[in-house]
Amino acid sequence: MPCPSRSDELVFFVNGRKVIERNADPEVTLLSFLRKNLRLTGTKYACGRGGCGACTVMVSKRDPTSQEIRHFSVTACLVPICSLYGAAVTTVEGVGSMKTRLHPVQERIAKSHGTQCGFCTPGMVMSMYTLLRNHPQPSEEQLLEALGGNLCRCTGYRPILASGKTFCLESNGCQQKGTGKCCLDLGENDSSSLGRKSDICTELFVKEEFQPLDPTQELIFPPELLRMTENPEKRTLTFHGERVTWISPGTFKDLLELKAKHPEAPLILGNTSLGPAMRSKGCLYPILLSPARISELNVVSKTNDGLTIGAGCSLAQVKDILAERVSELPEEKTQTYRALLKHLKSLASQQIRNMASLGGHIISRHSYSDLNPILAVGNATLNLTSEEGTRRIPLSEHFLAGLASADLKPEEILESVYIPHSQKWEFVSAFRQAQCQQNALPDVNAGMRVLFKEGTDIIEDLSITYGGVGAATVSAHKSCQQLLGRQWDELMLDEACRRLLDEVSLPGWAPGGRVEFKRTLVVSFFFKFYLQVLQELKKLIKPFPVPSVDSHQPLQDPVGRPVMHLSGLKHATGEAEFCDDIPMVDKELCMALVTSTRAYAKIISVDLSEALEIPGVVDVITAKDIPGINGTKDDKLLAVDEVLCVGQIICAVVAETDVQAKRAIEKIKITYEELEPIIFTIEDAIKHNSFLCPEKKLEQGNIEEAFEKVDQIVEGEVHVGGQEHFYMETQRVLVIPKTEDKELDIYVSTQDPAHVQKTVSSTLNIPINRITCHVKRVGGGFGGKIGRPAVFGAIAAVGALKTGHPIRLVLDREDDMLITGGRHPLFGKYKVGFMNNGRIKALDIECFINGGCTLDDSELVTEFLILKLENAYKIRNLRFRGRACLTNLPSNTAFRGFGFPQGTLVTESCITAVAAKCGLPPEKIREKNMYRTVDKTIYKQAFNPESLIRCWNECLDVSSFHNRRKQAEEFNKKNYWKKRGVAVIPMKFSVGFAATSYHQAAALVHIYTDGSVLVTHGGNELGQGIHTKMLQVASRELKIPMSHLHICETSTAMVPNTIATAASVGADINGKAVQNACQILLKRLEPIIKKNPEGTWEEWIEAAFEQRISLSATGYFRGYKAFMDWEKGEGDPFPYYVYGAACSEVEIDCLTGAHKKIRTDIVMDACCSLNPAIDIGQIEGAFIQGMGLYTTEELKYSPEGVLYSRGPDEYKIPTISDVPEEFNVSLLPSSQTPLTIYSSKGLGESGMFLGSSVFFAITDAVAAARKERDIAEDFTVKSPATPEWVRMACADRFTEMIPRDDPKTFKPWSITVA
Ligand SMILES: Cc1cc2nc3c(=O)[nH]c(=O)nc-3n(C[C@H](O)[C@H](O)[C@H](O)COP(=O)(O)OP(=O)(O)OC[C@H]3O[C@@H](n4cnc5c(N)ncnc54)[C@H](O)[C@@H]3O)c2cc1C
Ligand code: FES
Ligand code: FES
Repeated sequence: MPCPSRSDELVFFVNGRKVIERNADPEVTLLSFLRKNLRLTGTKYACGRGGCGACTVMVSKRDPTSQEIRHFSVTACLVPICSLYGAAVTTVEGVGSMKTRLHPVQERIAKSHGTQCGFCTPGMVMSMYTLLRNHPQPSEEQLLEALGGNLCRCTGYRPILASGKTFCLESNGCQQKGTGKCCLDLGENDSSSLGRKSDICTELFVKEEFQPLDPTQELIFPPELLRMTENPEKRTLTFHGERVTWISPGTFKDLLELKAKHPEAPLILGNTSLGPAMRSKGCLYPILLSPARISELNVVSKTNDGLTIGAGCSLAQVKDILAERVSELPEEKTQTYRALLKHLKSLASQQIRNMASLGGHIISRHSYSDLNPILAVGNATLNLTSEEGTRRIPLSEHFLAGLASADLKPEEILESVYIPHSQKWEFVSAFRQAQCQQNALPDVNAGMRVLFKEGTDIIEDLSITYGGVGAATVSAHKSCQQLLGRQWDELMLDEACRRLLDEVSLPGWAPGGRVEFKRTLVVSFFFKFYLQVLQELKKLIKPFPVPSVDSHQPLQDPVGRPVMHLSGLKHATGEAEFCDDIPMVDKELCMALVTSTRAYAKIISVDLSEALEIPGVVDVITAKDIPGINGTKDDKLLAVDEVLCVGQIICAVVAETDVQAKRAIEKIKITYEELEPIIFTIEDAIKHNSFLCPEKKLEQGNIEEAFEKVDQIVEGEVHVGGQEHFYMETQRVLVIPKTEDKELDIYVSTQDPAHVQKTVSSTLNIPINRITCHVKRVGGGFGGKIGRPAVFGAIAAVGALKTGHPIRLVLDREDDMLITGGRHPLFGKYKVGFMNNGRIKALDIECFINGGCTLDDSELVTEFLILKLENAYKIRNLRFRGRACLTNLPSNTAFRGFGFPQGTLVTESCITAVAAKCGLPPEKIREKNMYRTVDKTIYKQAFNPESLIRCWNECLDVSSFHNRRKQAEEFNKKNYWKKRGVAVIPMKFSVGFAATSYHQAAALVHIYTDGSVLVTHGGNELGQGIHTKMLQVASRELKIPMSHLHICETSTAMVPNTIATAASVGADINGKAVQNACQILLKRLEPIIKKNPEGTWEEWIEAAFEQRISLSATGYFRGYKAFMDWEKGEGDPFPYYVYGAACSEVEIDCLTGAHKKIRTDIVMDACCSLNPAIDIGQIEGAFIQGMGLYTTEELKYSPEGVLYSRGPDEYKIPTISDVPEEFNVSLLPSSQTPLTIYSSKGLGESGMFLGSSVFFAITDAVAAARKERDIAEDFTVKSPATPEWVRMACADRFTEMIPRDDPKTFKPWSITVA
């Protein structure tokens, strides 16, 4: 069969329009094609690995077998365009737009306040839209499943779910608790209502306003494609790219012929295995064979003894097929199918399951494969075909280990998989433990099957297979054989566990780490299986539950109302433009960064020659090209002679395309000479006296004397891991040099454009006034876009200056995570003296944070940490000390909460320890030691804790805390392997910067002659809704509707010398500046209004213009005078405090360490919220981010200091299924804060720490388990409380059974840096 050298035409449809691509390159993904070729930028790039859902689009295809049109969601970053022949793609732009018609999904997500920064929103819209195309009235379970693969770092998911639930069957509002009522509508009597007792917030959206869903209005499947599929093209299609050729045969015979001709060519189905391998491991396959048009691979056949499924069926189809079979057959025959179904629900995301094929999954033989262990124990067989004929091989341990004798021959393909029915007296189960419930690769999984001699409990056959414990799926064949003939009893269990541990051994240095945890899971899973089977045998299966404003306020005045985020609808339609959505500019070049692979080394040489030879490469920018200043002495923009961490930027390649630039960086050869000492951990930094700045210390009372008079003293340690910002939009910048006067326009995703401007100015040695930084919106910042964007802006600017071309720099997720640093890991030691009644008399805390290799914000973080350590407690004798360690890790930086979330975990852990020693519940110790009356903090700032007490009491009340504590205790008495924990945590969070110069802001307000108003201010829109709030302020001040007002962008040319949008005060200070500008303008208009009081706004403006009255004003706010004297330990560093309390309840599984969040109640003192919808969104979003910090987000470093966790697959931020089953937020009725705009409060950061209530609920449950097991000694508090930590802390006979390695005998896979 000929293979033409000319490419065929690739035909597919996008949003109803035909696309004909004559030179389709197999290496081009749909995401890149949409964004670059079609300029459809609504589909976003955030990870490029199929792990975040930001690039979700819908693909529609006609099924070759059933002839039905299938609509399914996919992640466009993993879809090669060549796979789309004959498909119709729908992107967010095709769903609806502001210009034509909004789709109900778009309208509802925006109006339900489901968007903040909006970067995840198009992906969310597309997942929901696809669901509705298939199920116009979905169930809540289907909704959760559809959204499980879409990450959002801002909202905390609750409002997104609420919008989706409006489509669900019997939906009425958000149905927060399945009551059929919106939680926001529940009245005074419902103690868990979001808006309970609050005058501000009774309803955050009006569902009656929503357009109904009308499925007849959707885009139809293009008739031309229908015709194409009716008479399918049988010809082989070939697409030649620069390096890869894609061959798509039209018949099975041709496929076999091609496979015989190109045995080394892989078959490409979902590309979810090949794609990531080609991207991250640099694998290149010159020929790819696509069997997408071969219907034989999709055949499903049912027989009396089993089921044969075509290897080309997607995992989503396999799920449907199995579910159908389970509903048709008796339970005893479907044990294997049920086990497969269980894992198919949690395997990857809906999008990946839609793309990945059964064949691709099996043949990839990933060691973590969730299905192979079950298929293996279920005795599945593989039907192979080649030109030579067909044959069957078992999906055995030998096949899984890749033994040539048990494997496919190179010319063979997998046609289908046969899975036999199970039989009576046979039980099959599947187990899996991952960092999160959904969308996370498993740490360990297992398939287990046992067959009993009929009517007995004697084992006739046993198969156990594990994934995640070796390079391939591992079978415990020997152990199983040795257990044949045994009775299913405790003795067998004990022997089985010992044998399994012996056979499934894992070395201490095993890749992926968590070795002892994994060993424990090997036996814990078997124990679970043992119990399940025992119950089955007794027929006693108990499934594990799956998881207002003042009435006098004028109607026109929007302040205090839940006004939708200004960009909400644009987020939902994909029309909101982010930095990298700016169309390509004339002569634009792309930049890619070259980073150090050594942690501390001298640079001996840098050889650029090979890189410069790559076609399209224009230049390589090094430190020598910097005309001005290369950063600071200790923090260079581009490394010069030495590198201080893996990930430090050494140089940057400039090329015509990003692909060329990335290829070139691989060709740059750098030689190093290692330097010493290399320090990664806090422990090593202390040992080497390696610190970034002097110790910060605060002291009050006489601590030594107090320790002598107390009843008891406890000492302890707390380790808190770092955190990655994981903003959905990675760092990006576009620098456009102008032809005159060295002017530069910089479009950058930053929280601090003035800092970018200043850094570029000093780097290029040109005055600040030639540089304009523009920030339209930022796709999430969380502190990570305060300092770092200036580095990227400056390097790109050097490239722009040198080449004379505009430069675009978009960081890949991997690079972003490697280079930018994050939250400081912390190690804390405490010594606490207290009376037997729980009154704390003396507290001494010393904290060390891991600052990384440069100072950055580490000194400030240390100061804030120390200032905030006391949290809500009045303790007379205190000593707080803090130091920032200098290590060879990327520099850590600002992160929401700025030290408070880490430090205060030490304080609260100390309280828990006191409670344990006094034999009292922790909440009693908290209450006993809390501030009660007007008082002074440790740094002698006076404050009134009234709102703190109110939040605490209200939280105890709304959460029915005491009742639930009793219920949890009852539950714990009855359950040995599951434990519940509850915790309530108070919070006093100081807002603002501890520096006076940061408490200022400016705004510029222009009124145009048609009456429309343009507002600009110094704050940046990061998703926190600052622009919406600013227009609410301007609307109230000018007394005009918000529709007259507009904010275009934040620009250093409009408002100079701005302050970073951070420290929760963005709306406070900029709001005052906007208010000032509006008041100036209104004052100027006053005589005109007085003269014509019945006139309209437009008439007054016209008259003002006629009378030569300036219609433009600068507003300015000279804010709080912050002051702190560290010598004396006194000051007034913060303008005010935000108070709150949170109560959480969890249930842990002691055998696996998994937990589920049963309920969370938050009460927050928001004073007079400017916009309750936005503020609640901030609280919820921060809480969920905090929950991630304390429970799942774990950074892993190699012993050489290389960050392993560089994407959503290795680093787990919370997903939609991690939101507590019941989640209630209420705002305290108004209190007053004279210092802020309309007595509102900045709520951006504080909610983060409340996520620790989940952490303390987990430790409460762990403590209950340990008490029951009579484990007397205290456990070391370690955050995050991952399943690994929980499992190992719930020590039992299984954890005791596992072998332990002497740490000195091996090099561990990863190190702990906190
Ligand atoms: C974000 C993400 C999350 C994931 N999470 C999980 C998870 O939680 N659990 C889990 O188990 N897996 C997970 N996976 C892995 C996923 O299950 C596999 O990548 C997928 O099943 C591979 O199928 P595919 O069709 O995409 O294979 P492809 O990438 O298209 O092909 C993979 C390999 O299979 C070969 N092949 C395919 N079909 C045939 C055939 N018929 N005959 C012969 N050879 C064939 C190809 O030659 C190729 O070498 C995840 C993947 C991603 C991207
Ligand atoms: S960018 Fe495609 S899934 Fe993240
Ligand atoms: S709104 Fe979801 S990531 Fe920002």
